[in-house]
Amino acid sequence: MEIQEIDIDKHYKETGEVLTTDQKKRGLLIYAFQQIQKEHNYLPEDKLRELSKKLDIPLADVYSAASFYKHFYFKPRGKNVVCVCVGTACHVRGASKVLHKLEEEFGVKEGETTPDLSMTLETVGCVGCCGLAPVVTVNEEVVGDVGPKKVNEIIKRVKSADKVKS
Ligand code: FES
Repeated sequence: MEIQEIDIDKHYKETGEVLTTDQKKRGLLIYAFQQIQKEHNYLPEDKLRELSKKLDIPLADVYSAASFYKHFYFKPRGKNVVCVCVGTACHVRGASKVLHKLEEEFGVKEGETTPDLSMTLETVGCVGCCGLAPVVTVNEEVVGDVGPKKVNEIIKRVKSADKVKS
């Protein structure tokens, strides 16, 4: 989606009458962030500047709104996102070994993306399936009981696929 394509009035049909122009513009921010991130996999600075101009909202406010949500990213992300759960149950069952192995294999630290943008390595507090600890998610897929064999399978899959599908 091009920033210029954002049509403020189109988004506020009936409710538009009770909202001020400023409220309408600010209300569009999250939608715009979602569209930009869908297209670029993160929120590039030039797109946020363009959005700030288009909606006449200070750039600092645009950044402030985006950074409130953990879901929006300001740096390029990989096609595959591998996320190691480091919550208590997973930690106790060896999550740090899993994380270390992935860091070593892909040459990145937690929170980093490989230079070829094939993979981003992240950690999370708890995925909500502690009974399967240690847990790793690969894109949308949850992989439980991750021991040395499963780590190697994950590495192989991520390295050999453009994008790992669940
Ligand atoms: S601590 Fe890892 S799934 Fe809950």
